[in-house]
Amino acid sequence: MAFREPTKIVAAALRALKETRDAKGAEAVWREYLGRQGLLRQQLRHIGSLPSAGRARKGKALHQAIARVEAASQARLETLRREEEEHVWRHERLDVTIAAPQVHRGTLHPLTLVRREAERIFSSMGFSVASGPEVEDAWHNFDALNIPDDHPARDLWNTFWVKSKIPNPKSKLLLRTHTSPVQIRYMETHQPPFRIIAPGQVYRYEASDASHNMQFWQIEGLMVDRRNTFSPVTLETLLSVLTSFFEQFFRKTVALRVRPSYFPFTEPSIEVDLSCIICGGSGKLADSPCCVCKESGWLEMGGAGMVHPKVFEALKFHSKEVQGFAFGFGIDRLAMLKYRIPDIRLFRQGDLRFLSQFK
Ligand code: FA5
Repeated sequence: MAFREPTKIVAAALRALKETRDAKGAEAVWREYLGRQGLLRQQLRHIGSLPSAGRARKGKALHQAIARVEAASQARLETLRREEEEHVWRHERLDVTIAAPQVHRGTLHPLTLVRREAERIFSSMGFSVASGPEVEDAWHNFDALNIPDDHPARDLWNTFWVKSKIPNPKSKLLLRTHTSPVQIRYMETHQPPFRIIAPGQVYRYEASDASHNMQFWQIEGLMVDRRNTFSPVTLETLLSVLTSFFEQFFRKTVALRVRPSYFPFTEPSIEVDLSCIICGGSGKLADSPCCVCKESGWLEMGGAGMVHPKVFEALKFHSKEVQGFAFGFGIDRLAMLKYRIPDIRLFRQGDLRFLSQFK
């Protein structure tokens, strides 16, 4: 390798440093001249092979060149880094006092709020939350609930049947028409005493109107204990549990009224009415008729009763040894009363103007 004049190398390095526009470029120039394979370092390695005459002078000139380029590189690097920092300060600074753009926050669906509130209240009374499938088989939805295939009571629940290849009529699939099959599923795997609620969606093949939907939420309740206990589960227990629930849910003192009814899976069966939470049961608001209870002073809440012995027998429980109550209410209807919503169909229209009002 020929020895090159150090002053020429220095001039080239200084030119390159001057032309470079950023710190990275200055670092590259430094590597090109002063890195392990850099031009000046190579020259330095070469110096030993030069003739002795003039070697010392050339060596000295080379060391001076290295010192010069080193100093110039450092100075240029510092200048460029400072300029880059200043650029960031000037152009990328943050003004922490500027108001943040509004982020749209979602809200919980009113039916979710009501379901959670019901779960909270029943949990405080010792009930646990159970669940079952929405695509159910006919045995759990009907037969085990004392609604055999040929029984006219099946007409009470207009059913969406699901096509399936299974030939056994008891295993025919359907969209569950009520949450009562969860009672059966729970009792298949648990022994009394127990108290559960089962909130869930149900489906009925019927026309929608302001108070009926094809898909809606129900909440099932089931409390069963042995007959020979100190305080067996009776209709009285049921009514005190429901009164306590409604008073906590509506945050009002309420009265309950029961009317005889018919459900194949309870005996006796009752319909539970609640004193109107809008007019307090008087049927009047100021001097006008109450439009919520239609002047009757009562609101229909749902069905209930004592679990029918045939249901216990289907599950191989001895009905002489156990007894309990069950109830089923519409969550959509509870939400309509709580939030004074006039039309049940609003819950499923996905209209954000409606949904975002609930927090
Ligand atoms: C039942 O579904 C029974 N499984 C309830 C039951 C459970 C009785 C346990 C006894 C023991 P029913 O069909 O009446 O019963 O429905 C119960 C509640 O669901 C009604 O009171 C009403 O609040 C609600 N509901 C019924 N049909 C609809 C509908 N199409 N749209 C919205 N809510 C409905």
